[in-house]
Amino acid sequence: MSLYNKYRPTTWEGTNGLIGNDKIKKQLDQLVKQSPLERPQVFLFTGPTGCGKTTIGRILASNLGCDIEYDLQEFVSADFRGIHTIRDIRRNMYLRPMGVGDNRVWILDECHNLTNDAQNALLKALEHPPSHVYFILCTDQPECLLAPLKGRCILYKVKPLNHTEELPLLLNRIARKEGKEFKKDDALQFIKDIKEEAEEEAKEIAERKGLKEKDTKAAISLARKQACHPRNAIQALAKVLPTLPDKKKE
Ligand SMILES: Nc1ncnc2c1ncn2[C@@H]1O[C@H](COP(=O)(O)OP(=O)(O)OP(=O)(O)O)[C@@H](O)[C@H]1O
Ligand SMILES: [Mg+2]
Repeated sequence: MSLYNKYRPTTWEGTNGLIGNDKIKKQLDQLVKQSPLERPQVFLFTGPTGCGKTTIGRILASNLGCDIEYDLQEFVSADFRGIHTIRDIRRNMYLRPMGVGDNRVWILDECHNLTNDAQNALLKALEHPPSHVYFILCTDQPECLLAPLKGRCILYKVKPLNHTEELPLLLNRIARKEGKEFKKDDALQFIKDIKEEAEEEAKEIAERKGLKEKDTKAAISLARKQACHPRNAIQALAKVLPTLPDKKKE
C-alpha cells in the first residue's frame, strides 16, 4: 500500500487524526451528536485537490454510524457521471443498512463530473431521502454544480494544509511512523527542495516549448503547488525515507 493511503486519517483526533480544519471538525462533531431528525442529510465538501475532502467524507460517514465495509458506497463521478448511476442510487437507497451501523452513506466524489441530467436526478433523490441515508458530495469545482443542487447541501470549504506547520507535521508524522527521524526543520527544508525541483523542471519544459514569460510563470507556480500536494509530497518522502536516520528510542 502506498504511504499516502496507509496514513490517510480515519479519525478527527489522535496520532493518525486529521490535521488542521479545526472548525469543520468541530461543526461535524456537533452535528453527529444532534438528533437524527434534525441532522442535515446532504453535505458538500469543496476545496483544492488534495486538501482532504474524501478523507473528511469518509470520517464523517463512519461517525454518522455507517458500517464502512457494508454500507458506504463511494462513487468517483468521473467514472459514473451519467443518470443511470443516480437512478440506481434512487432505487437502492430505501434498503436498510446491511452492516452493524444504523445508516447508509453515498459519497459522490468529484461530483462536478455529473451530467446535468444526473444532477437533476440527484436533486430528486435529495428531496426526501429515507432517514437512514446520507449523501456526501465532494468537488474542487463547485461552480459546475447546478444551483438548486448546491442549495440542497450544507457546504463546507476545506482548507489545504499550510506549508509552514501542517504539511511538515504530516510528513514528520509519517516518517516517524516508518521508524525514521525527521525534524520540523528538516521537513521545512524538504518542502523547499521539492518546490525548487518542481520549479526547475517546469522551467526546462517551458523553455523547450518556447512558452512566453507569463505562461512560464504560471507553469512554475502550478508546478510548485503540485509538488506540495500531500499525495506528491508523501511520494517524494517515500523516496528519501531510506536515507533518513533511524528514529531514536524513546
Ligand atoms: N488535513 C489533513 N490531515 C492529514 N492528512 C491529510 C490532510 N489532508 C490531506 N491529507 C493527506 O492527503 C491525502 C489526500 O487527501 P484526500 O484524498 O482526502 O484529498 P481530496 O481533497 O479528496 O483530493 P482530490 O481533490 O485530489 O480528490 C490523504 O490520503 C492524506 O494522506
Ligand atoms: Mg478526493
